[in-house]
Amino acid sequence: MRISFYLKFIFGFILALASLSKVFAADINNKDVLVLIDSSGGNTYKLAESIKAGIENKGLHAVIKKVPNQEHTTNDLDKVPVASTDELVKYSGIAFGSPIYFGNISTNMSAFMTQTLAIWKKQELANVPTTVFMSGCSGSGNETSITSFWNILASHGMTIVTLGNSSIDGVNKAIPQGNTPYGTTTRSCLPGDNRPSKDELKYAYFQGQKFANAITHTSLDQKIIIPVASEKATTNTVETKLQKLGLSLPIAPQPVGKYVPFKRVGNLVYINQVALKDGKILYPGIIESGVTQEQAKQATQQTMLNVLAVLKVAADGNLDNVKQVVQLSGTFNTLPNFTNHAGLMNSASNLVVDIFGDKGVHTRGTFGASSLPLNSPVEIQAIFELN
Ligand SMILES: Cc1cc2nc3c(=O)[nH]c(=O)nc-3n(C[C@H](O)[C@H](O)[C@H](O)COP(=O)(O)O)c2cc1C
Repeated sequence: MRISFYLKFIFGFILALASLSKVFAADINNKDVLVLIDSSGGNTYKLAESIKAGIENKGLHAVIKKVPNQEHTTNDLDKVPVASTDELVKYSGIAFGSPIYFGNISTNMSAFMTQTLAIWKKQELANVPTTVFMSGCSGSGNETSITSFWNILASHGMTIVTLGNSSIDGVNKAIPQGNTPYGTTTRSCLPGDNRPSKDELKYAYFQGQKFANAITHTSLDQKIIIPVASEKATTNTVETKLQKLGLSLPIAPQPVGKYVPFKRVGNLVYINQVALKDGKILYPGIIESGVTQEQAKQATQQTMLNVLAVLKVAADGNLDNVKQVVQLSGTFNTLPNFTNHAGLMNSASNLVVDIFGDKGVHTRGTFGASSLPLNSPVEIQAIFELN
């Protein structure tokens, strides 16, 4: 009697911890990552775009903003929104990018950070992950400039993420590159001097990936594949079609156990998802016993969107890199006499054919189950082929 009470107590405690960890993971996944820059010539901005692409390749959403009072010589920076110090506390992580000024951070960045005194007093950025990248010219002081930026971030109690001595395939070692173990830099003096180099952009991309993994507490356990701009699909027809249907991709759900959101074997990608939306299951329960067929169709579409969000990560940030949809398997939380599995699964099948066209035609299996994880009404397993 007493043993069963203790077992129930321990089991309940473990369940509570598990659900707390899910809430925590969902919370992180729903917050943007800020890439905050100062840039007058646009070089820091170019690095920022690669940092952002690397972060988004790992399934998080990143936004680039600039500090106020910038006079810039490139129109690209006009469209970048200005950040305020108040908003810093709302992000899951902040990557800082600054030009190097006399072996230190730039005047604008320094002025902005000086305005964070109120946040520092309350230590509101304590433990928030941060990383630094910088743009220089001669390269003089590129390492110490990053560590001088660290002094401010350490005062805020932030958790600093480094670049490390990363070995990235195919880097041209015949020319000086701006990689440092502390963070990426570039040696960029004048417009048109071909900097940041292709390899410096690769380091920035990798730094973005490493930073995202630090935010989501995921080890960088997959082979490092850095896409080179020219090798990637440059259009995004598939996502445009999705937008025309009034749909958008959610942030790719992160695993809450010792598994990965996708596995790539050769050019095949394997993905499993349930009907998570904003950290909760959409229409949890049994179909036709609390959940209507219409609700189950919506949950199926949501599950397919989750699959596509993970697929985008696997496809180097662009669904146009998908060669074909190979197979979809849908499992539904049903009563034993339910027979309309195919009717529900059409919500997923129609969606992929609508956005991928002929490449979306696939083989399919549908199943009924007496229960599904998290009480989801549906689970989809999918196999895709990449280019
Ligand atoms: C006042 C001043 C000081 C600078 N000091 C350094 C320096 O110590 N080391 C360096 O490599 N570049 C230095 N530079 C060059 C810039 O950091 C470099 O051109 C950078 O790429 C500009 O970044 P942006 O294009 O994002 O504005 C300095 C530039 C200025 C205006």
